[in-house]
Formats: sequence, structure tokens, C-alpha cells
Amino acid sequence: MKKKAFITGIAGQDGSYLAEHLLENDYEVYGIIRRNSITEHQRLRLNHLDNKITIEYGDLLDISSLENKIIKIKPDEIYNLAAQSHVRVSFDIPHFTVMNNAIGALNLFETVKNHSKNSKIYQASSSEMFGRCVDEDGFQREQTRFEPTSPYGCSKVFCFNLTKHYRIAYNLFAVNGILFNHESPRRGSNFVTSKVVKTAVRIKNKLDDKLILGNLDSSRDWGHSKDYVKAMNLMMNHSKPDDFVVATGETRTVKELCEYVFKKLDLNMDKYISQSEKFMRPEELRFLCGDSSKIKKELGWKPEYSFESMIDEMIEFWGKNHDKNVIEY
Ligand code: NAP
Ligand code: GDD
Repeated sequence: MKKKAFITGIAGQDGSYLAEHLLENDYEVYGIIRRNSITEHQRLRLNHLDNKITIEYGDLLDISSLENKIIKIKPDEIYNLAAQSHVRVSFDIPHFTVMNNAIGALNLFETVKNHSKNSKIYQASSSEMFGRCVDEDGFQREQTRFEPTSPYGCSKVFCFNLTKHYRIAYNLFAVNGILFNHESPRRGSNFVTSKVVKTAVRIKNKLDDKLILGNLDSSRDWGHSKDYVKAMNLMMNHSKPDDFVVATGETRTVKELCEYVFKKLDLNMDKYISQSEKFMRPEELRFLCGDSSKIKKELGWKPEYSFESMIDEMIEFWGKNHDKNVIEY
């Protein structure tokens, strides 16, 4: 019998790659999407999978929608990827972000505990939880303390703790993937990698003449979403539930990201880039660099993309799509 996977956030960047990865591994794939007034936008990243997966309306904040589906499907694996995932937006809508991410996850854990205790559950935890903390050797790892610097980060710490609590208290197979930033052509265009690549490509094509950014000095450990969804699936098929950091172990500043992209497009970035308060954050997470030795050693995970091959793929993608309203993935 095929394994059944249920994905919240299936229409997001990671959800769509995870659905593809699970289909390739012979899973039946189910997921929920929220109602959106522009239906076409909602399924954009999933159009190519239309006949292969089962999508229904559902919302983490509507526990009845979760119960109905989980009782009916009885999934072997549940991936909780749904979240208000934009850090800067979380300063503008802190109540919604915390309610959605934290109470949403609680609704899902309660549903599993009460109706489907054998379903394994993956929680999309984040390097944003580390906030101000870096170990002395310049890395963050499973043992590093959490000191989040945003409402989003605080909501994710709640979910991380909830996952461990339900694992211990109710014996659920509940795992935390502590994923560092990961990008792709499917990354929302208001995250910094997509924003920089898309705008630089538009500048090259004379459709834009400036790129306005916030903090250029913060450092991020950027990997590819395709590599990271494979890590999620490995964690769910481990012999025991545990928590794992997933990262590349390399870090670059936003300025270095811009330098790479503009050089690749043969553009002088000093002519086009400026900064605005609008894109600054009340508190910035300054530095991320992850040590993923544990998942490499215990589960044999290894990323295929380098920073350069990932950004090159994004440049190629936006080269074809920078002037389109409807994008085909
Ligand atoms: P994303 O592209 O923003 O996707 C998130 C998805 O969740 C969207 O499709 C969104 O639907 C859906 N969603 C939000 N609230 C929901 C709710 N109440 N009920 C049902 N669906 C809801 O994010 P991503 O980059 O794929 O990330 C996936 C998960 O990993 C997120 O939890 C994120 O916080 C976490 N994470 C991401 C990274 C990263 O670098 N990408 C790193 C660490 C952790 P709408 O389109 O309707 O808003
Ligand atoms: N979005 C954005 N837009 N970021 C900018 C800009 C800008 O115009 N200018 C500078 N930055 C800086 C941000 O201040 C931050 O330091 C860095 O670029 C990365 O920002 P994002 O791409 O928005 O990602 P993030 O690190 O805040 O959050 C992402 O990674 C987390 C994991 O560490 C998101 O995917 C989160 O959901 C995820 O948990």
C-alpha cells in the first residue's frame, strides 16, 4: 500500500517541492489550501501537479477542517509547513502571525493526538529561532540557545517546544526540522534573494532602474528548497523522532548576494542599489550559519546545490518570467 502524506502549506515554496519529492517516492499526496479571492494565484506552484495530488480547502485556524481531513485520510505522515512565514511582515501583523503559526500548530497537534496518534508529524522550525545566539565557533546547531528577534521567531519557538512536548507527553512521532534559509525559483518575490534576482534581471531588461533594500550587512546561510524538503522526508523516516538542523554551513551578507547577482548580469550595482527604512526591521537577526553535522552523520543528508548553482537557477528563471503576470513553474 502507498504511504499517505498530508501537507499544510502545500501551495508554498517548500510544500510544492515536497509534494513533487513525495510523488517521486510513490506517496499519495494530500494537502490544504486557504480560500483566496484570486483562485489562479493560490495554485500557481501546484498547477503542474493538478491530477496527481488531492487538494481541499482547509485552514490551520479552523480545527474542524483539520479534523475532517485527518480522520478521513489517516495520513502516515503530516508535514506542517503552513505559516505566515515573512519575518518583516511579522512586525506589521504580530497578532495574526503568532495566532496563525502557534495556535495553528496547536490545532494540528491536538487533532493528531485525539484522532490519529499513529500519524507522524513534521514541524517546520526555523533558524530564526536562534536570533541573537551564535556558538563560540561561529555556528548554530541543535544545542544552541533560542533568543528570537521577531514575532515570527517567537511563534516558531512556541511550535518547537510544542513538538517536543507532544513527543514526550503523548508519545507522538513528532520531529522538528530547524531549517536555515532556503530559496529557489519558487521563493516569494518579497524575500531578499528573489527580490534581488528579479529586480536585477528587470534592470538588465530596462524595465526597472533601481533596487531598494533594507539591511545589507546581515548574513544568511542560504540553501536550496529542493535539497531541504528531502531532509524533511529523511527525518520522518528515521527510526526515532528527533530534531535536526539543516543548513549549508556557509554564510554570506546580503551585500555579497547582490555583488554575485549584479556581476553575473554584468551590471554595476553601485548605480542601482539604495537603502530605505521601509525594509529595515525593529530588531535584525544579524548572523546565521548552521552546523548540519548531525543530519549528515545520522541520516546521510547531503545538499546537491551550491549557493552559486541555486542563484544561477533563479537568474535563469526570472530571465524567462520577469515580465509575466502569470508564472509557470
Ligand atoms: P511560504 O512559501 O510562505 O508557504 C507557506 C504556506 O502556508 C503558504 O502556501 C500559505 O498559504 C500557507 N498558510 C499560511 N497560513 C495558513 C493557514 N492558517 N492554513 C493553511 N495554510 C496556511 O513558506 P515556505 O518558504 O514554503 O516555508 C514553509 C515553512 O517552513 C513555513 O512554516 C516557514 O515558516 C518555514 N521555514 C521556511 C524557511 C525558508 O527559508 N523558506 C526556513 C525555515 C523555516 P497562503 O498562500 O494562503 O498564504
Ligand atoms: N525581505 C527582505 N527585503 N529582506 C531584506 C531586504 C529587503 O528589501 N533588504 C535587506 N534584507 C535582509 C533582511 O533584513 C534579512 O537580514 C535578510 O535580508 C533575509 O531576509 P528574508 O529573505 O526576508 O529572510 P529572513 O531571513 O528574514 O527569513 C527567512 O528565513 C527564515 C530562516 O532563517 C524566511 O524564509 C523565514 O520564514 C525563515 O524561517
